[in-house]
Amino acid sequence: MLAVADIRAGYGAVGILHGISFDAPKGRITALVGANGAGKTTLLRAVAGLLPLTSGTIALEGRHIGAEPANRRVEAGIALVPEGRLVFPSMSVAENLRLGAIARRARPGMRERLAAMHELFPRLLERGSQAAGSLSGGEQQMLAIARGLMARPALLLLDEPTLGLAPAMARLIFRTLERLREDGLTIVLAEQDVRSAFALADGAYVVENGRIALSGRCEDLLGDARVKSAYLGI
Ligand SMILES: Nc1ncnc2c1ncn2[C@@H]1O[C@H](COP(=O)(O)OP(=O)(O)OP(=O)(O)O)[C@@H](O)[C@H]1O
Ligand SMILES: [Mg+2]
Repeated sequence: MLAVADIRAGYGAVGILHGISFDAPKGRITALVGANGAGKTTLLRAVAGLLPLTSGTIALEGRHIGAEPANRRVEAGIALVPEGRLVFPSMSVAENLRLGAIARRARPGMRERLAAMHELFPRLLERGSQAAGSLSGGEQQMLAIARGLMARPALLLLDEPTLGLAPAMARLIFRTLERLREDGLTIVLAEQDVRSAFALADGAYVVENGRIALSGRCEDLLGDARVKSAYLGI
């Protein structure tokens, strides 16, 4: 689905991503794990088109999109659920969901998708007219995910969706991602909680200082001595 090859990007003259390559297979969850400041958010922003590439390529279903602006990548099927949720706080839950569907791509089946979001997250239906900023952190994360899905993405990029959430809410979010995978969605998940990410994902990449330090199937990485000592504390 997604093939990222040797990309470099940064902020101003400061290089942050130093030649990163990774693949996200169709219908799978691919985890990007790494410590604070490793470059996970920068990588997702580069894939979404919010940060220009210095070099390298990004292909979505074989089509090169690395030079296209963010809105064209949304139309191509990429949706980013950003770190820190970032819903529009003074707008209602329903308005936030509608804003997720402003791309041309999102028009077919919009009503059905809204109904599917309410089925996925019943809380959002109950809170439809409430200002998004008054939702709990977990509810805001549900809204941010649902808003991303309203764009009818082929590829959903999620940046630390469970950060700061209570364990029960984090489990609910992860179960939702499993359901979305069962429906065939391709997901890339940036996550600091390596144990939870590996339990959920199919394959993973370990990001260190803007480079991929390790990659593989999650079950193999769980047995890797470097992963154990650096990320699992065992
Ligand atoms: N807007 C910015 N301007 C300049 N430098 C930035 C900017 N955003 C991030 N950086 C730097 O880029 C590096 C990578 O940050 P990034 O946010 O991608 O890491 P991360 O892996 O997402 O970390 P975290 O787990 O804390 O979210 C850090 O050194 C950070 O200070
Ligand atoms: Mg981040």
